[in-house]
Amino acid sequence: MGQPLTVGIVGCGAISAQYLTTIARLPQVRLVAVADLDPERARAAAEPYEGVEVLDVAELLTDPRIQVVINLTIPAAHAEIALRAIAAGKDVYCEKPLAATGEDARRVLEAAGQAGVRVGCAPDTVLGTGIQTARVAIDEGLIGRPIAATATMMTPGHERWHPDPDFYYVPGGGPLLDMGPYYISSLITMLGPVATVIGAASRTRAKRTIGSGPRQGEAIPVTVDTHVTGVLVHESGVLSTLVMSFDAVATRAPNIEVHGERGSLVVPDPNRFDGPVLLTRLGDQAARELPVSAGYAEAGRGVGLIDFLSEREPRAGGAMAFHVLDVMESLLASAHSGRSVDVESTCERPAAVAFGDPATRE
Ligand SMILES: NC(=O)c1ccc[n+]([C@@H]2O[C@H](COP(=O)([O-])OP(=O)(O)OC[C@H]3O[C@@H](n4cnc5c(N)ncnc54)[C@H](O)[C@@H]3O)[C@@H](O)[C@H]2O)c1
Repeated sequence: MGQPLTVGIVGCGAISAQYLTTIARLPQVRLVAVADLDPERARAAAEPYEGVEVLDVAELLTDPRIQVVINLTIPAAHAEIALRAIAAGKDVYCEKPLAATGEDARRVLEAAGQAGVRVGCAPDTVLGTGIQTARVAIDEGLIGRPIAATATMMTPGHERWHPDPDFYYVPGGGPLLDMGPYYISSLITMLGPVATVIGAASRTRAKRTIGSGPRQGEAIPVTVDTHVTGVLVHESGVLSTLVMSFDAVATRAPNIEVHGERGSLVVPDPNRFDGPVLLTRLGDQAARELPVSAGYAEAGRGVGLIDFLSEREPRAGGAMAFHVLDVMESLLASAHSGRSVDVESTCERPAAVAFGDPATRE
């Protein structure tokens, strides 16, 4: 193995601990420094990890030791931090969504193209054994020609557990932009890009109440749709039906199902890296669990960084993330206009991930 990939994290909030854990387990990635608008948060994040420095945001973004800036700020800050990192000649790996708007995301990709740097983006959960095993099953024809899929995410809302849930209820958030990337990235990984969308959406209340932490009881404004449904017409002709909601108490619907001419697959939670893939073939009495056949084993958030070790375009990459954001914005545009909307962008299906331990990959 050559020199480790050197990375720095900007944004040390709720999700950062998962990245720190993953990076500590990957010998081919070295965390140089962390930064946050709130230096206390950066200090707390770095504290358990020997040798990780705490820097100002501006210092980290221009630090010559750092090759990839991992952008774990809130969606409204994603584009600004990414553009500053790109201007300093760094590759960027961003939490989802790539930016709060498609327009901002386009600026990020254009700037990266001009600077000759790469953009990666969460979710990298699609590189885990769950979605990758399902993808290979479909590619190998186990369900025959794919016809349709369903994707369902229904919760009462993240304000019950997140101490600073404001960003979930402003542009860049909502159930679609927050959770849609997991589901839509998975559908694209399995079934290819989306050509057209038809949407409908609603918003139940103008305020939400924070349920935990120092701000418990505080009301926050809601300026986005909180129940979004629609149909994604894939370029292949497959029809995926999507329900993303912060307005439902509970659901027993599977996260994702994919139906083909000769079989149906139950696909595990795309917000996780693993989970059982269940196949029922036409005529079977019951579903059977498929053996794991592809994907990073026992992976965690941050494994998408492995692709930055080589010259390849990251599989959890900018082009896919841009298309996902375009699909989501098109769905909302359709919901608001009452008409179907053609999705302007497209992307390649990234290469499948061979099964195995991410710590040994180059
Ligand atoms: N919380 C989760 O479970 C979760 C899961 C998956 C993905 N994500 C994604 O991760 C990102 C961060 O989410 P979170 O829950 O950790 O949010 P958070 O609010 O807990 O943390 C965000 C951190 O970024 C810092 N920050 C904001 N703007 C900044 C700027 N301009 N410069 C430097 N630091 C800045 C804040 O001070 C804060 O510490 C979001 O894009 C979210 O969608 C979160």
